Amino acid sequence: MENIDWNNLSFGYIKTDYNIRCYYKNGLWGDLEVSDSEYFNMHIAATAIHYGQESFEGLKAFRGKDGKIRIFRMDENAQRMQDSAEGTLMVQFPKEKFMEAVVKVIKLNEKFVPPYESKASLYIRPVLFGSGAEVGVKPAKEYMFILFVTPVGPYFKGGFQTTPFLIMREFDRSAPLGMGKYKVGGNYAASLIAGKKAHDMGYSNIFYLDAKEKKYIDECGAANFFGIKNNTYITPKSASILPSITNKSLMVLAKEMGMKVEQRLVPVEELETFEEAGACGTAAVISPIQRIDDYDEKKSYVFSKDGKPGPISKKLYDKLCGIQYGDEPDNHGWVTVI
Ligand code: PLP
Ligand code: COI
Repeated sequence: MENIDWNNLSFGYIKTDYNIRCYYKNGLWGDLEVSDSEYFNMHIAATAIHYGQESFEGLKAFRGKDGKIRIFRMDENAQRMQDSAEGTLMVQFPKEKFMEAVVKVIKLNEKFVPPYESKASLYIRPVLFGSGAEVGVKPAKEYMFILFVTPVGPYFKGGFQTTPFLIMREFDRSAPLGMGKYKVGGNYAASLIAGKKAHDMGYSNIFYLDAKEKKYIDECGAANFFGIKNNTYITPKSASILPSITNKSLMVLAKEMGMKVEQRLVPVEELETFEEAGACGTAAVISPIQRIDDYDEKKSYVFSKDGKPGPISKKLYDKLCGIQYGDEPDNHGWVTVI
């Protein structure tokens, strides 16, 4: 704890003091239990490890100039975890209990919420999974919810800086009628090879096209995509991408800044026309895109010639972070102050 270098945190795991667990047995969720261990026991036939019956969430808490801690839109994450449970036939974790657990785990680990000046945050990771034993492919009868936190810095190296992305048609992250809209581990397992390939080639991540036709933009790595042109915020409408809470928030903020907002199919060739482009998500916040190289078509779409983030991306970033850290008023009830 004494050794944490708040100003140079990466997006990685650091041990904190406590985590929370909750068990579903005999048709009922138990009480929230606090643990100081980083481990738990699991049945060798748990459905989570055999058949991927699991989902996770990611949200953040921020320390303001006033020293207060603010949690961003945790009700949305609670709801999305319920949607993921529905999509994987898991028992839903009650929303109120989810939010109670988030507040509790932050209070227990208060000293790990990075100071305001560091511009770092506390990443909160809830996980829900089938813990009951089955050998046939069917949903478990028992479930476990766990919740841990870890202080994090930027997801992509350098923070608010542009980085390059790569289109490669040989990989899909999710199927058109599949699980892409849920936050389930399998989607991330499916993205590992592509992500490694992109990293090895010097890119931030892979840029996925729709799996059926490879004509439209889906999302980029573990983040949604947006493009900016003619004072318009444009973001893909797709049934195979994760409905990003950050993107949903940016659409509101863009509108309030007097921009038009379009959520629609975005053909890959349209990349040519964007003045700015970015990846957005809880971990990514806004990660402005320097350029997107199309590996198969041997083409390059450049959004930033000087490598600097565009003015609208910067404005959106400042506004979003302003609300999260409490520098700007929270006019939408997005923030829970502890
Ligand atoms: N898309 C994927 C695949 C993700 O993993 C994430 C991260 O949660 C996002 C988009 C961004 O979603 P959110 O803004 O809710 O964090
Ligand atoms: C997030 O943005 O919260 C993510 O889940 C991204 C990644 C760490 C999976």
